[in-house]
Amino acid sequence: MDLFEYQARDLFESYGVPVLPGLTADTPEQARAAAEKLGGTVVVKAQVKTGGRGKAGGVKVVHSPDEAFEAAEKILGLDIKGHVVKRVMIAAGARIAQEFYFSVLLDRANRSFLSLTSVEGGMEIEQLAVEKPEALARVEVDPLTGIDEAKANEIAEAAGFPDDVRAKVVPVFERLWKVFIEEDATLVEVNPLVLTESGEVIALDGKVTLDENADFRHENHSALADAGEVDPLEAKAKESDLNYVKLDGEVGIIGNGAGLVMSTLDVVSYAGEDHGTVKPANFLDIGGGASAEVMAAGLDVILHDPQVKSVFVNVFGGITACDAVANGIVGALEKLGDTATKPLVVRLDGNNVEEGRRILAEAAHPLVTVVDTMDDAADKAAELAHR
Ligand SMILES: Nc1ncnc2c1ncn2[C@@H]1O[C@H](COP(=O)(O)OP(=O)(O)OP(=O)(O)O)[C@@H](O)[C@H]1O
Ligand SMILES: [Mg+2]
Repeated sequence: MDLFEYQARDLFESYGVPVLPGLTADTPEQARAAAEKLGGTVVVKAQVKTGGRGKAGGVKVVHSPDEAFEAAEKILGLDIKGHVVKRVMIAAGARIAQEFYFSVLLDRANRSFLSLTSVEGGMEIEQLAVEKPEALARVEVDPLTGIDEAKANEIAEAAGFPDDVRAKVVPVFERLWKVFIEEDATLVEVNPLVLTESGEVIALDGKVTLDENADFRHENHSALADAGEVDPLEAKAKESDLNYVKLDGEVGIIGNGAGLVMSTLDVVSYAGEDHGTVKPANFLDIGGGASAEVMAAGLDVILHDPQVKSVFVNVFGGITACDAVANGIVGALEKLGDTATKPLVVRLDGNNVEEGRRILAEAAHPLVTVVDTMDDAADKAAELAHR
């Protein structure tokens, strides 16, 4: 479970990580009142569980309560990569001298923890990792010893913090590690961690991912989940018992079997590179029995995603043979009627594939294109999404 920035801020505060005062607001009026309370320069920040808020116009520095009202009016309702802003945080303004980056995360490949740290903060970390990999210090963290003072010093040194700043970031790293380990997080990221003009080190932004498998150990975590209203599409999918995860792209995906769906996401991402870098819009595994009902429920969820421009149905017929799946698709489109408006690319293979294709050909639904191979189908779906 990802936390909102304001939740991460509160969590940081409870562990003694230096943060600035921040208040949440769900209306421009509340934003004005919050800015009045904080006084002086404040920052109005979109609370959405996705990155790149600043670039999308979701972070605004303002100098009066009235300006905070106006900024909140603009930011609330803003769509940032498919996440609509319902709440903003009004944070006290910092006078920033320098921006750094710090994170600690679960490194699954190494069965260990990893700290990524840089004195070049502010920039998007993915971009930094590509353009200036040498500026990103990667330090493995032993799960048994964690980030103690010695480790924190090692990290700060590896990242190239000057001595005077190092002394200030070390205790912050130790506390962020405490958040990470005691809350059972898989990610704690601070971008930017800043040095202010008056020489204080402060966490100005926070991203925290909690391990849901450890929820039973944390009474406070269910409250954090409640506050973060579930994505409406994910809620809808849950009602129909569908395995659905919303992603940021434009190509809706339906497949049967988690492995097939995962590889479908890969081929679509790859094909998307040739078509304006379109990406998969979701993960959706409709499981073994791809009946018309399940197919309709799945399509219904995906077609309600405003970001979706095309849909790729990738099914391998096994116990449920391709003819049953084809009937499922035809039945689902009948059920959905006029609400089905986006092009569907269907790739069927496996048990009884010929009959499946025949059924689709006979139905000749205007939205459906049947493509024989997975790669070609991915390419077609990406092309349609890019149009
Ligand atoms: N409280 C603050 N006072 C002054 N400047 C701030 C404050 N909070 C953020 N900023 C400035 O705004 C920039 C963007 O803020 P922030 O890191 O919170 O959002 P973001 O990086 O765009 O979003 P995300 O982290 O989701 O990608 C920061 O790098 C910093 O320069
Ligand atoms: Mg940030």
